[in-house]
Amino acid sequence: MKKWWKEAVVYQIYTKSFCDSNGDGIGDLRGIMEKLDYIQSLGVDVLWLNPIYRSPDVDNGYDIADYQDIDPRYGTLEDFKALLDAVHSRGMRLIMDMVLNHTSDEHWWFQESKKSKDNPYRDYYIWRPGKDGKEPNNWGNYFYEGRGSAWEYDEATGEYYLHNYSRKMPDLNWDNPRLKDDMCQMMRWWLDMGVDGFRMDAINRLVKPKGLPDSPNPPTPPVGIYGYVVDRTMCANRPGIHELLHELNERVFSRYDIMVVGETGNVDAAIAIDYVKEERREIDMVFHFEIAKNPVLVNAQQFKEIQRRWYHVVEQHGWITQYLSNHDTPRQVSRFGNDGEYRYESAAMLALLMHTHPGTVYVYQGEELGMTNVDFPSIEDYNEKYTVGKYHTMVESGVDPKEALDSLKMMSRDNVRTPMQWNDRDQAGFTTGKPWLRVNPNYTRINAAEEETAEKSVLRFYRQLISMRKAHPIMAYGTYRQILEDDPELIIYLREWEGERWLVVCNFYGNTRRLPEEAAALLADGANAPQTEAGGKNAPQTEAGGENAPELLLCNYETGERETIRPYEARIYRL
Ligand code: NOJ
Repeated sequence: MKKWWKEAVVYQIYTKSFCDSNGDGIGDLRGIMEKLDYIQSLGVDVLWLNPIYRSPDVDNGYDIADYQDIDPRYGTLEDFKALLDAVHSRGMRLIMDMVLNHTSDEHWWFQESKKSKDNPYRDYYIWRPGKDGKEPNNWGNYFYEGRGSAWEYDEATGEYYLHNYSRKMPDLNWDNPRLKDDMCQMMRWWLDMGVDGFRMDAINRLVKPKGLPDSPNPPTPPVGIYGYVVDRTMCANRPGIHELLHELNERVFSRYDIMVVGETGNVDAAIAIDYVKEERREIDMVFHFEIAKNPVLVNAQQFKEIQRRWYHVVEQHGWITQYLSNHDTPRQVSRFGNDGEYRYESAAMLALLMHTHPGTVYVYQGEELGMTNVDFPSIEDYNEKYTVGKYHTMVESGVDPKEALDSLKMMSRDNVRTPMQWNDRDQAGFTTGKPWLRVNPNYTRINAAEEETAEKSVLRFYRQLISMRKAHPIMAYGTYRQILEDDPELIIYLREWEGERWLVVCNFYGNTRRLPEEAAALLADGANAPQTEAGGKNAPQTEAGGENAPELLLCNYETGERETIRPYEARIYRL
């Protein structure tokens, strides 16, 4: 079934690092407002804002202290309403990040909950007495905080509370009907204001396993340079989660024309279908971690295998997402491409790959400029909890500090959180003050102003892809079939929709390849198309040729080549 959100390209804005309008070093809502022309020029349909609610900012806003107010660092509720209006009047939509698994310990619910065992808000959170003088179970917190436990002892009432993330982010108790009512009401308040949907944080973790049993894989003492591993499966996809999401759908989501995308770690395609199958009426699509957040770099064959499995979700009337980075991952060109010699080619190839796969496309701020990972010299330069927590755990267990830092650099979430690079002026044009996180020193070369005019422009390539998605429903809705599944380097697939047929050819690596026969045959099929002169880097061009000649719609190299596929080359043909 057609839906606006299936066709959409979503632009993710990490407000804190996007644009600072008042010189305090922190991006804000007015900063986004100032950049709306730029955002609109990308052609994107939806803006997703990471959490901007009132928060002590322990986890960059994922620790919410008030769900119905904007953090003063980002502006006011009035600023937010003005932004929402402006976004709507430009024909775009806006979705909020919604965090239902935990709050900040500074949320008044938790302040009440802590007061006494019979406080009416006690059961908004998960409190347990200790066991044999120790924590209630052996779970570890995901941020490697303190001694690693997911439980924090509270002197006042002599019990522990559960926090899967930071001790300043207590987990909520979704078995409590009053909490559910309050949350439904709160979400409706945003939707009534005109918000167009939610990105639901850690949504498959809301229901905890009955009895909170020990994990069969407790956090082990640090092993090797990777430190210990926390078992994140204990709270994922537990019985009751589907009933809960269906209830939220009935009471909230289904009453509005919105999109709901869930963040779901520990989910593969077989599990995902139950969350996103249309007739189940839970949520619309999920972010899986198999590519972008896989700690092991996927190769071309694994990428294809994962896409095949997830396409099956679409075939079963569910919907999927396409993304290669977000605020929790490295920069995509540094991870999957080559951020040196082939920065343009590989960033463009990755963009083309995403926009021509079935699913809703998500572009994280700065990817459209080909921004890269950062290489800070010291742990002091890093900010985010996970990297800092893991670093200290490793160093305390005897790992050499340099080795510890080096091992964490590639996956650090700060890679993507450095300020947006607008121009080559001081602080990349992000702020007139001192930015909350250091700017990537390569801003003098890589920035939006430069990308506007550069000969090889990742930005213009994105604009083209996004406008093509608007013009060609095949990109969202076409069937998807890979050819040469076992080719270790090339990713080649056919899309088909209402009599139209496209062939996409991508080289996932930096070598040159001959076009395999099967693909060549498909192109030859399209009659005696002569070698192309086309494939304009930034303008779709048509191959001259016979009536049935395949048409080269887009390519990231200047001169079209038929037989060889160059490093990170990507082409779209209409057959
Ligand atoms: C997932 C978010 O994307 C991440 O940034 C955050 O730290 C955790 N959930 C906790 O809310």
